[in-house]
Amino acid sequence: MKSKDHAPETIAAQALGRIDRETGAVVPPLHTATTFARGDDYEPLGSYIYSRHAAPTVAHAEEVIAALEGGTASRLFGSGLAAFAALTETLKPRAHVIAPRIMYFAAQDWLRRLDRTGRIALTLFDQARPETLGDLVRPGETELICIESPANPTWDVVDIAATAAIARSAGAVLCVDSTGAPPSTTKPLALGADFSFHSATKYLNGHSDLTAGVLTVAADSERWADIQDIRNMTGGVLGGFEAWLLIRGMRTLFVRFQRQSETALAIARHFDGHPAIDQVLYPGLPSHPGHAIAARQMTGGFGGMLSILVRGDLERARTVASSTKIFVPATSLGGVESLIEHRRSIESPTSAVPDTLLRISVGLEAAGDLIADLEQALA
Ligand SMILES: Cc1ncc(COP(=O)(O)O)c(C=O)c1O
Repeated sequence: MKSKDHAPETIAAQALGRIDRETGAVVPPLHTATTFARGDDYEPLGSYIYSRHAAPTVAHAEEVIAALEGGTASRLFGSGLAAFAALTETLKPRAHVIAPRIMYFAAQDWLRRLDRTGRIALTLFDQARPETLGDLVRPGETELICIESPANPTWDVVDIAATAAIARSAGAVLCVDSTGAPPSTTKPLALGADFSFHSATKYLNGHSDLTAGVLTVAADSERWADIQDIRNMTGGVLGGFEAWLLIRGMRTLFVRFQRQSETALAIARHFDGHPAIDQVLYPGLPSHPGHAIAARQMTGGFGGMLSILVRGDLERARTVASSTKIFVPATSLGGVESLIEHRRSIESPTSAVPDTLLRISVGLEAAGDLIADLEQALA
């Protein structure tokens, strides 16, 4: 199967269609070897030497992701944060970096740490008013702009194409954390981003059974070569078994995400205006401020992530989060099982997330069961 000839759904379903010529197996092999033999001339027999540099199953997963993202290449890491840290490691000393005020909190904690230690100069912008970004950019000085769309956990939508134009005119690179919008719905590189970044722990894998991160690049560059060297030198690479599980997970990405988007929309509509809820935050609702951009940018569904602001206080929100019977009270997102989380309880003290916010990751259960479960928890 040649990826350029086929639709992304086909690429994902067949994981690039690698039938093992020896056995005919339709499932890709799992290679766990850490080292690869050389031939009589002492040259490597294949294209691999040692698994910290590269290994076949990891490379296969990377090729699937690069094809789905429409990128030149992808590199997998042992977690999303390991991938993000490799990117920031490429920055010049004291580089100016811009990132959202609300984003995945641990990635922001990492940037704050780099700022505190003098490694970078960090400016935060209001992701709910992305038009303010233009004024914060320092042309010739800003090296990296990070955005996350939709932003975790308020699901604010940032216009990737508009941000890419700002980054380009300032000579900065744009990295989009698209964890909440996998390539079945958003392709940041096609919208002008330089890097697409995912916690592959979430939708890409989809089964809450591995930790992984991935960076995909639009075009080869010195920075990309540096990222690969950094992964090699720090050893943050993904293991073969996790890569194999990830390939398996990605084969159902499109149907999972479509169904999760449909169910999330049904839940959002049901609870919008509910007397026990102050606000439903979901980009699929026409009342959401980012809805028009999301409709343009999320072509395969608005996703399975939404948040509700429970009427009352922090204690009331925690009580609701621990009163569900189907939603599992746990962190993380993008799996087949629905999760509910009181977000302030897990984020750092610098968190700007409201006390009453409950984050919901919609799985593959029946929409009616999930709605009834939330109703009884709110009651
Ligand atoms: C949006 C987002 N980005 C990045 C990460 C970090 O990924 P990981 O937990 O795989 O390191 C997460 C984890 O929750 C996330 O939700």
